[in-house]
Amino acid sequence: MSSQQKVPPEVKARIEAIKRIREQEEQVRKNLEKIKYKIAILSGKGGVGKSFVTASLAFALAYLGKQVGVLDADIYGPSIPKMMGVAGQPVMGTPDGRIIPVVAPLGVKVLSIGVMLPSEDTPVIWRGPMSTSAIREMLAYADWGELDYLLIDLPPGTGDEQLTILQLIKDLTGTIIVTIPSDVSRVVVAKAINFARKLNAPILGIIENMSYFTCPDGTKHYIFGQGAGKKIAEKYNVRFLGEIPIDPRISRANDAGEPFFVKYPDSEAAKVLLELAQKIIEIVEGKTQ
Ligand SMILES: Nc1ncnc2c1ncn2[C@@H]1O[C@H](COP(=O)(O)OP(=O)(O)OP(=O)(O)O)[C@@H](O)[C@H]1O
Ligand SMILES: [Mg+2]
Repeated sequence: MSSQQKVPPEVKARIEAIKRIREQEEQVRKNLEKIKYKIAILSGKGGVGKSFVTASLAFALAYLGKQVGVLDADIYGPSIPKMMGVAGQPVMGTPDGRIIPVVAPLGVKVLSIGVMLPSEDTPVIWRGPMSTSAIREMLAYADWGELDYLLIDLPPGTGDEQLTILQLIKDLTGTIIVTIPSDVSRVVVAKAINFARKLNAPILGIIENMSYFTCPDGTKHYIFGQGAGKKIAEKYNVRFLGEIPIDPRISRANDAGEPFFVKYPDSEAAKVLLELAQKIIEIVEGKTQ
């Protein structure tokens, strides 16, 4: 063998590392292949109600008869377990080392780092690569069984975690962008749209949360102004899916660990969420385009 053909150990190690990444990508593909539709919930900005919308859409889809799972990809601020009423439920594993999601009301399966930590106030202090590898592990080794829908709650912004998900799930059905009616969020929504487009992730539409407040006499008050979400959807040629009202019971229920959609099914917000879920089914299952 000539000296040129000898592979130095560090190059060998690098080749092994690349192989492992390829294997994990293949594992993610295989693990998710029984899930019909995979939707990532994105927002440019924090605190717009992304986790609430993800949790509620999951319940609404399950209410409509779909098998649903939620992956909480917010490693540093996982709020899904509480909002879905599964905080403190123990995570189990299969004999072959896969993670079994916990089960929320209406049979929704949930996986979040929040249910794997010893307590609610345990901080996750990791560097970027560690949080993306936690996401990769969850994508590769969660035992979802057969699902119609997997909703993925992304952390706010357009960074490493979002990139990992959008790149790893090659057959992502699409993204939903959540926003609130404010000028600041207009700019960040544009960023989220451009981010999804750059990564060739289809955008199913924009949902505006905290759009208005309905008084007991039925009058609607657009506290933060009206129409910002619709306008940005038109500007970027993206579907506008709808407006979710403000309801103080939402934050109270979320804080108490009681799923709002399940607790207040007759509220206006729950009805809007049900309509949104119906719209999403129509869009992704091909009944309207
Ligand atoms: N329509 C609404 N009416 C009233 N309160 C709401 C509404 N939507 C969300 N909230 C409340 O606003 C807060 C932020 O919501 P949520 O945690 O879902 O936002 P997020 O975008 O996921 O935030 P983060 O960026 O921290 O992940 C929560 O306390 C939630 O209960
Ligand atoms: Mg959140």
